[in-house]
Amino acid sequence: PRKIIIDTDPGQDDAAAIMLALGSPQDLDVLGITTVAGNVPLSLTSRNARIVLEFCGRPDVKVFAGAERPIARPLITAEHVHGQTGLDGPELHEPEMPLQDKHAVDFIVETLLREPAGTVTLCTLGPLTNIALALEKAPEIGPRVRELVMMGGGFFEGGNITPAAEFNIYVDPEAAAAVLAAGIPTVMMPLDVTHKVLTLKRRVAPLKAIGSRPATALVEMLDFFERFDVEKYGSDGGPLHDPTVIAYLLKPELFSGRDCNVEVETRSPLTAGMTVVDWWRVTGRRHNARVMRDIDADGFFALLAERVARL
Ligand code: BDR
Ligand code: CA
Repeated sequence: PRKIIIDTDPGQDDAAAIMLALGSPQDLDVLGITTVAGNVPLSLTSRNARIVLEFCGRPDVKVFAGAERPIARPLITAEHVHGQTGLDGPELHEPEMPLQDKHAVDFIVETLLREPAGTVTLCTLGPLTNIALALEKAPEIGPRVRELVMMGGGFFEGGNITPAAEFNIYVDPEAAAAVLAAGIPTVMMPLDVTHKVLTLKRRVAPLKAIGSRPATALVEMLDFFERFDVEKYGSDGGPLHDPTVIAYLLKPELFSGRDCNVEVETRSPLTAGMTVVDWWRVTGRRHNARVMRDIDADGFFALLAERVARL
């Protein structure tokens, strides 16, 4: 199985991504979960990651807490989307499993230096602070990363936290810019993809039918999570952003996109965190990301239900 580190700020859709990964042990070996401040502050994302693992009966997966705030800005959170806990929906228990003492950045650096070069994939589901700090601390890890698959950005679709910016990039644009400049083979799942992954009733029905503890918790999370988008965008179901990252590793044929240049705006107050994607290749700038634009959403939900049923 492919070795991955999941860097995350759970988040209901982050939880779905973690479940999709843990339900796929023949394909993915989760070396650890690193948490970052994002949807809610770090203490809550670190708590939520452990709650999700316990829902899955996997307290053996280690959780490492990382950055408490973005590199150069105050933290912006999204309780208006995710609720006060960050994981509103199911009844949440106090996690029993411990948080590791090691800092997430040290775990990322040590793991990449220990494992053979080109074997570890980074899956980022939140602001890119931990990855940028790891690259700053140990630049030699960059060439050792097999691939970095991120949920973040948006181009033709626009933004979801400002008209120009997607949340994960907006929270820490300096980190995103540093990661995109690092020369790591990078895949980007922007809002252009994730806004097609709507939790329509017929798509969620197979998840509801599973009836296990993790599946039921996930359905309760999605019920809460979609409320925001259904009200805001008037769609039948909300977008499930983060599990697209894991789905890409399991079934890349569900997606289509192209290699192009992506730069992040860090200076303008109006467009901070905007991902400027050169989709039409009108610049000669280096292709630094494989940017996805389309997804077979029904195929994605079938995969999610199949793997969550294995938990
Ligand atoms: C991203 O922001 C968070 O609210 C979600 O978990 C996802 O990672 C979507 O913009
Ligand atoms: Ca997230």
